[in-house]
Amino acid sequence: MRVVIAGGHGKIALLLERVLAERGDHAVGLIRNPAQAADVRKAGAEAVVCDLEAASADEVAALLSGADAVVFAAGAGAGSGVGRKDSVDRGASVLMAGAAERAGVRRFVQISSMGAGQPPQPGRGEVWAAYIAAKTAAEDDLRSRDLDWTIVRPGGLTDAAATGRVRLAAPPVPRGTVSRADVAAVIAALLDQPGTRHQTLELTGGNSPVATAVRIT
Ligand SMILES: NC(=O)c1ccc[n+]([C@@H]2O[C@H](COP(=O)([O-])OP(=O)(O)OC[C@H]3O[C@@H](n4cnc5c(N)ncnc54)[C@H](OP(=O)(O)O)[C@@H]3O)[C@@H](O)[C@H]2O)c1
Repeated sequence: MRVVIAGGHGKIALLLERVLAERGDHAVGLIRNPAQAADVRKAGAEAVVCDLEAASADEVAALLSGADAVVFAAGAGAGSGVGRKDSVDRGASVLMAGAAERAGVRRFVQISSMGAGQPPQPGRGEVWAAYIAAKTAAEDDLRSRDLDWTIVRPGGLTDAAATGRVRLAAPPVPRGTVSRADVAAVIAALLDQPGTRHQTLELTGGNSPVATAVRIT
């Protein structure tokens, strides 16, 4: 399987690239900084430089040619402001989804966030509100498209080791945390589960082995 990962040097993306390489899949990590290419290659993936705040839909569609799936793992990240929440967390996802449609790549797994689809929690500030608005708009855009999409909303991310056990279900899942390593394992498993298409799933640490958790149809 050829899987193109938007935000190829992100923490989840690098973990996912390792999982995909270990099972014999070919991952392509899209990065905006060429200096990150070595890390992506070390994770077992191909690195392609593509700034998702600057590329055109045609350029991205060309990169997706021949792919079997797209994973949206990009994000403006901590420390970014309102503008980049919109240009990355919403805009880059819309760009990738449109390019996937053009390129005929039907499978699309989007990493969103718990809290999307609801009004932002009061008192968390304008950047949080912009983040939630951007994730919600990216989800809505994806649902409107003729793609085999799955939206994954992780809870708070940690850098703990993989546990191999999660809670993955339609909202609402009680708030909680989940390790990026477990998120990567879930995303890799979802790519093989077309029955999860057109589902929005929330994800935290839990008791179900990943292979069982993704068998949702
Ligand atoms: N933090 C949490 O608790 C939490 C909870 C739920 C969901 N999430 C979401 O989970 C996702 C992945 O999380 P993570 O921790 O793996 O994120 P991360 O380490 O911050 O990775 C995000 C990646 O996106 C890349 N990116 C940003 N702008 C880009 C652009 N214009 N073109 C190409 N790539 C670009 C970044 O590259 P640069 O190095 O070039 O900036 C970075 O490699 C994010 O969407 C995040 O919002 C986070």
